[in-house]
Amino acid sequence: MRDQVLAVWRAGVFLLAGALTGLVSLFALPFVLVLALVARPVARQLLTVAIEYERRRTAAYTGRPIPEAAEPDTWRHGIWFVTHALTGTVVGLVGAAVPAAAINALLVPLYWWAAPKDDPVAAPYPVTSWTEAAFMPLLAAGYALVSLWITPWLARTQSRFARWLLSPPPGARLAERVAELTASRAAALEAHGAELRRIERDLHDDTQNRIVAVAMHLGIIERVLRRDPAAALPLVLKAQDAASDALVGLRGVVRSIYPPVLAERGLDGAIAGLIARSAVPTTLTVTDLTRAPAAVESAAYFVVAEALTNVAKHSGAEHCEVHLTGRDPVVIEVRDDGHGGADEAGGTGLTGIRRRVAAFDGTTSIDSPTGGPTVLRVELPCGS
Ligand SMILES: Nc1ncnc2c1ncn2[C@@H]1O[C@H](COP(=O)(O)OP(=O)(O)OP(=O)(O)O)[C@@H](O)[C@H]1O
Ligand SMILES: [Mg+2]
Repeated sequence: MRDQVLAVWRAGVFLLAGALTGLVSLFALPFVLVLALVARPVARQLLTVAIEYERRRTAAYTGRPIPEAAEPDTWRHGIWFVTHALTGTVVGLVGAAVPAAAINALLVPLYWWAAPKDDPVAAPYPVTSWTEAAFMPLLAAGYALVSLWITPWLARTQSRFARWLLSPPPGARLAERVAELTASRAAALEAHGAELRRIERDLHDDTQNRIVAVAMHLGIIERVLRRDPAAALPLVLKAQDAASDALVGLRGVVRSIYPPVLAERGLDGAIAGLIARSAVPTTLTVTDLTRAPAAVESAAYFVVAEALTNVAKHSGAEHCEVHLTGRDPVVIEVRDDGHGGADEAGGTGLTGIRRRVAAFDGTTSIDSPTGGPTVLRVELPCGS
């Protein structure tokens, strides 16, 4: 019983607030309609304010937030607004009046006699005698029964109607998700392409040139060997050096594809290695981390590597912290106490991070106000 009374009370408060916004909307309706014809953005702005309030009111009553679409659906919002303007006040007053009538009927026996004879209390019939007043509690019970049913029902109907029109239509969420996935797949392909081009460039410009040098040395050695075998020895040593050089270059390229340290020491170990080499004193905290897929660990590693390089190159920081958390998603936070002002348009490193992370359907946030501090936060879902 207590719960039911509480439910009527909550529904009554919700409906009264709706009556108030309904009344305001009713007065605003003609202006909004005119504005919709002559200054659409202004009308849309007013609509957004009304919708925002309704979202909050409904969410507070039902305890469930109304999901929001990326693109506001003006038509559906408009239909809600007009309906609410035309019905909100009436619905709210009816919903609140029935329980109020029950309470009043209960009180009439206490005060009917105080009313003047020619203007008796009428609730709903004129009460002019104690007999008539004695029936009042019965009437109160009737009103109470009706309000137990009608007030929550009206509140439920009103909040469902709002939820139906203010949430994205059923297909839209799916469409939004498809659009997101299409974008992240494009980003994955783009990142993959960029990675291939980089590897190709590294192999071409660096490793290939060094092997060409080895081949040239061997050619010279061949010729010298025919004439003067003794003179060939220093050239052989040179060729050997060039071959070792090529090998170092090749190792570098291999490492840039998938740092072997990841396989050997795991993500935390690999990052600890990066930190040990960093010029800015850096602390690492790791919580609740297990092995992630190789591609994710590799991306996380390169994100931290670029972030630490930036801290050393640009931040002027005295101290830096790296936090590594989570199984899925893997969350990386790099925070430095430098002068801030990181600007994605300023180079290729930060945009590279964003693109790399987007390829995993992850998120990147860079917070770097002028004067610092700079916080880079990346979430990398593991795809499970
Ligand atoms: N931690 C930081 N603190 C202050 N400024 C930063 C920080 N990180 C980046 N910046 C600023 O943002 C700009 C963009 O960084 P980004 O990494 O994209 O490019 P870059 O480091 O200059 O070049 P590269 O393409 O080699 O990475 C930098 O030029 C620098 O001015
Ligand atoms: Mg950089």
